[in-house]
Amino acid sequence: MSAAVSDNAGPEQALLPLHRLEFGVPGPPERVELSDGSPAWLVSRYADVRQVLGDSRFGRAGLYTPDGPSLPDQPVLVNDPDLLFNQDGPEHLRLRRTMHRAFTPRAVARWQPWIAAIVGQLLDELARREAPVDIVAEFALPLPVAVISRLMGLDASARERMRHWSEYALSDGSWPAEEVGAAMAEFSAFGGELLALRRREPGDDLVSGLVHAADEEGGIPEAQLVSLVCGLVVGGHDSTMTMLSNSLFYLLGERPESWPGLASGEEAAGRLADRLLHGIPLGDDRGTTRRAHEDVEVGGVFIPAGAVVVADCGMANRDPAVFPSEWSEDLFAPLESPTLSFGAGPHYCLGAWLARTELQLALHHLAARFPGLRLTEPASSVQWRLGSTSRGPVRLGVTW
Ligand code: HEM
Repeated sequence: MSAAVSDNAGPEQALLPLHRLEFGVPGPPERVELSDGSPAWLVSRYADVRQVLGDSRFGRAGLYTPDGPSLPDQPVLVNDPDLLFNQDGPEHLRLRRTMHRAFTPRAVARWQPWIAAIVGQLLDELARREAPVDIVAEFALPLPVAVISRLMGLDASARERMRHWSEYALSDGSWPAEEVGAAMAEFSAFGGELLALRRREPGDDLVSGLVHAADEEGGIPEAQLVSLVCGLVVGGHDSTMTMLSNSLFYLLGERPESWPGLASGEEAAGRLADRLLHGIPLGDDRGTTRRAHEDVEVGGVFIPAGAVVVADCGMANRDPAVFPSEWSEDLFAPLESPTLSFGAGPHYCLGAWLARTELQLALHHLAARFPGLRLTEPASSVQWRLGSTSRGPVRLGVTW
């Protein structure tokens, strides 16, 4: 879940494939303007971005105080002050603890067999179809939706609605405010009802675990739990679907030579998944925003208390001091350092290991089952799903 303020590029560049976006050369923190014209600092070097994201003198809650920058006034999820992502310090930790254990690499490793089984079922269905097919509709979307639905114990009837709400939740203002407001109200009501249901009839799903942990913790406002459930629904499928679609677009369009290597084993697919997550941004947003509670020095530059800071993870991921070669040079080489694509510090993406596992298994099994998979249309004809903090192809025709 990224929440950025300054936009990346002009209208022509907005339609570039995500793997082709240009990033400038990182340098010391510099003054920039947010989209509303208010001043901010852009932090772009790897070490500086890590510092900002890990330093408790920077926070998210200060962005929503009356003297904060004017973030878009749409009631979109990312700007919901109750969201886990917008809490700081002990409040944030208390809420995060309720979910943290469910998403550790060890916990996710236990889910691997059934995630692989879902991948297998989707590929069986794909093989029964006549080519060409739309790989977004038939694979990249249903996989993460099925995974997050299973984790949250949701049935198929909730899936279509989840997709609808997610589109609005990541709205960047391209829908009418009333429509977004109505969709978000429905989404919150769904989250509230789901929490109530699991309180009455607990199961072994994530929401039951959340309710149990929140009761043990005590004192967590219900609105924060509702936002967490909605955040998991959106984070759980939109970002993974987008990542998988953009990855397939890149691999099939420009790197078909990587296909046999992907098919060769899960481990190789894991290294390639790491590279794709590192190199292909989710959308056009640049960076994640914080506000300084106190005066702080970053990379030798004085940043005063109250200043808004945009930490540009995409630029930092291309910092030549840390990543000397191009990310895409050898797609199977391990990353030189941990990527910042999932952020860093206390807000480090809860779903990072899950997203990585889904991408790894999806790509590996797809390449193994369909060695001749290729795009049916030239890359230039792709239509983009716009209007959200993530951007991906609306459809991607493939044959084999
Ligand atoms: C390709 C997939 C994904 C990417 C690139 C991604 C990226 C990120 C980033 C950059 C952050 C930190 C933002 C910041 O510090 O400003 C974040 C936070 C978060 N992500 Fe993800 N994410 C992905 C998938 C997921 C999935 C699958 C889930 C849930 C199942 C998820 C749930 C969350 C949550 C709950 C947070 C907030 C954590 C906190 O504030 O403590 N994400 N994500």
